[in-house]
Amino acid sequence: MTSFQEMWAALLPVGRAADGGYRRFAWTPAELECRAWFADEARRRGLELEQDRNGNLFAWWLPADGTRDEAVLTGSHLDSVPGGGAFDGPLGVVSAFAAVDLLRERGVRPARPIGIAAFAEEEGARFGVACLGSRLLTGAIPPERARGLRDRDGRAFGDVIAEHGLDPEAIGPDEDLLGRVRCHVELHVEQGRALTVPVGVASAIVPHGRWRFAFTGEGNHAGTTRLEDRRDPMPPFARMVLAAREAAVRNGTLTTVGRVETVPGGVNAIPSAVTAWLDGRGPADDAVRRTVAEVEREASAAAREHGVAVEVTEESYSPVVAFDTALRDRVAAVLGGAPVLPTGAGHDAGILAARLPTAMLFVRNPTGVSHAPAEHAEPEDCLAGVEALTAVLTDLAGA
Ligand code: GLV
Ligand code: MN
Ligand code: MN
Repeated sequence: MTSFQEMWAALLPVGRAADGGYRRFAWTPAELECRAWFADEARRRGLELEQDRNGNLFAWWLPADGTRDEAVLTGSHLDSVPGGGAFDGPLGVVSAFAAVDLLRERGVRPARPIGIAAFAEEEGARFGVACLGSRLLTGAIPPERARGLRDRDGRAFGDVIAEHGLDPEAIGPDEDLLGRVRCHVELHVEQGRALTVPVGVASAIVPHGRWRFAFTGEGNHAGTTRLEDRRDPMPPFARMVLAAREAAVRNGTLTTVGRVETVPGGVNAIPSAVTAWLDGRGPADDAVRRTVAEVEREASAAAREHGVAVEVTEESYSPVVAFDTALRDRVAAVLGGAPVLPTGAGHDAGILAARLPTAMLFVRNPTGVSHAPAEHAEPEDCLAGVEALTAVLTDLAGA
C-alpha cells in the first residue's frame, strides 16, 4: 500500500454514520480524532507540529539550514458538513503528507520550509461562519465576533476552544505566521463535473455568502386557533424558500435553503419561531446581492401579511476570488498545461488569497456529487493528485 492509501484507510471510519456520511464538526470527538491523526502523521515524519492561536494545525518540514521563512504551505481541512463526503478537506491533507513522503523517497531536499495545514472549522458547520480558522488567521473576521459565535447547543466558540487549551482572548490575525509563508497551494476534490481529466487548477471562486432569516410569530394550539388569529412564522418561511428559488432563476445565481429550525417543533403546535439559512452564490457580486435583496423583500412582505417579524442577518460573505495569475500559470505549466477552471465552492485558499499568492489543484470527481455521502474520487485520480502536488512542491520549494 502507498502511504496515501494507508492514511486514507486510517481516516475513513472517523465520524462516519451508517449511511456513509461524515459528521466531523470542529472540536467534537470525531474532529478531535482527526486532529490526533494529523499530529501522529506529523510526528511519524519528524515534522514540527504547531497549533496556532486560532486552532489551525501545521506540520512543518524545515530545510537543513533550519530556516523558517518563505515557506510553501499546502493542506486543507479535516472538518465536514453534516452528512458530508470523505474527500472534501481530508483529500488535501492526506495528499500533502503523501507528497512529502514522495519528495523524501525521491531525495528532494527542500530549500524552503514546506508546511501542511489543517485549517479549523472550514465548513462553518458548527459555528456558522465558513473558513473560520483562516478568517481569524488573516484578520477577515474580528476576534470579538468569532468569540461570540454559537453552535446548535448555544455554546460559544470562545468557551469551546478554551476547553481545548486555546486562549479565546488570543485569537485573531497572526502576522508572524503569515509573514513566514510565501505561498499556499490547496489540493481539493472537484465539487462539480467540470473536470474531465484527473487534475486541474483553479482560476477563481465565485462570490458566496450565508444569510440567517429569523421569523418570529406566536406559538399556539393547532386545533383551536382560527386561521385569522394566527401569527404563524411557517407560511412566510415557505414563501421565502420559493422566492429564493425564483430569484436565483431570474438572476442566474444559485440559492439553497439547507437548514431550518422550528421552535418548538411539535406536530400539533403552531411554531413560535422559524429560522432558516440561505446560501447564495453567483457569477458576480451584484447578481448575488440582487438575489438576496429580492428574497428579503418577499420574506418581509410575507411576514407582514402573517403578522410575523423577520430579521435577516448576513453571517458571512466572500466576494469573488481570482487566484494569483502568476502562481496559477506556474502551477498549470508544471502540470504540463492542466486545465484551469473556476469553482462555486468556498475554500481556505480563497481566504488566504487576500494576503498571499494562493493556488488550488482539483482532483476529478466523476459524478460531481459533493457535501453528500456519495462524494467520490477514483483512487488512481487521487494518486495523480499526489503526483501533481509533489511536482508543484518540488518546483516551489525544491533545492
Ligand atoms: C464549502 O465547501 C462551501 O463551499 O460552502
Ligand atoms: Mn465543503
Ligand atoms: Mn473543502
